[in-house]
Amino acid sequence: MIIVDKRICVLTGGCGGMGHAISLRLGKDHAMLLADISAERLDAEKAALAKLGIEAEGLVVDVSDRMQVDALAARAAELGVVDTVIHTAGLSPAGAPAEKIISVNAIGTVNMVEAFHGKIAEGGVMIVFGSSAAWTLDPPEDWYKAYGRWNDPGFFDALLDIVGEKEEDADEDDEFFRAGQAYALTKRFVCEFARMNTVRFAEAGVRILSFSPGSYLTPMHQLLIDNQPDMAEAQMDLTPLGRWGRPVEVAGFIEYLCSPLAGYVTGVDILADGGTIAMQRVKQI
Ligand SMILES: NC(=O)c1ccc[n+]([C@@H]2O[C@H](COP(=O)([O-])OP(=O)(O)OC[C@H]3O[C@@H](n4cnc5c(N)ncnc54)[C@H](OP(=O)(O)O)[C@@H]3O)[C@@H](O)[C@H]2O)c1
Repeated sequence: MIIVDKRICVLTGGCGGMGHAISLRLGKDHAMLLADISAERLDAEKAALAKLGIEAEGLVVDVSDRMQVDALAARAAELGVVDTVIHTAGLSPAGAPAEKIISVNAIGTVNMVEAFHGKIAEGGVMIVFGSSAAWTLDPPEDWYKAYGRWNDPGFFDALLDIVGEKEEDADEDDEFFRAGQAYALTKRFVCEFARMNTVRFAEAGVRILSFSPGSYLTPMHQLLIDNQPDMAEAQMDLTPLGRWGRPVEVAGFIEYLCSPLAGYVTGVDILADGGTIAMQRVKQI
């Protein structure tokens, strides 16, 4: 139980690389309600934050499960006034197959936005995590058609249709490719879904936006470096700044985006990728 004399920040993926860095910043003036899938890691994270004087409560939540996400929203409301919701929980092709990526990244984001719509105090903000992978191509029309079905029981299948079912003779490389497609498809959805929610959040005086990191050195990115070193090297070659991002650089930006200084920023994606997408998509001089 946390003592609630502060406003509440709900943070999914609270035990992740970016989640931890964000708690260090937002935990200065918020009580943190951390959601993640591992009870042990939540306990360890809470203890680490407590040593730094940051109040935090942990709740085991699988964001792809709507009932668990509703329980998270209910717990947040019990604790006090929620003014900030940061949804970082996500899976990448280095750690999960296409189907799981669709469930966690796309369905999980719908669950979070639906559960917290109307529950964030006026002046508050919701930030959902996309990826630079969302911006590597112009989505074909069928992606947008599928995104339009976000509130339909067939949404998962509509996304899976685009990626394709697993082939019987698929090898590891085929599956990694399929997972990569699912990642780009679902992360673009996250960015589009934030924008699709701009007006209904604004009606309650709440901002909503997506944040798209490039390659930052967190446990998620470390998996890619360990399991797909060639791919990681290729990514580095496509990064004009010539280094991986640091989670602290995400956290500082998120703190700013949650502050009144960014009070007019809503309905957009913020891409922070070391210049990768500009290098890939815009002719350089
Ligand atoms: N790091 C990057 O370079 C990078 C680049 C682009 C976009 N992003 C995005 O930024 C966000 C944060 O990334 P990160 O690097 O901090 O990743 P991370 O270190 O892997 O943290 C993500 C956290 O979410 C948890 N999680 C996974 N599935 C979940 C579920 N179903 N319900 C609740 N929690 C779940 C993870 O647990 P497990 O560890 O057990 O899976 C982990 O603790 C992600 O959405 C990611 O896609 C990251």
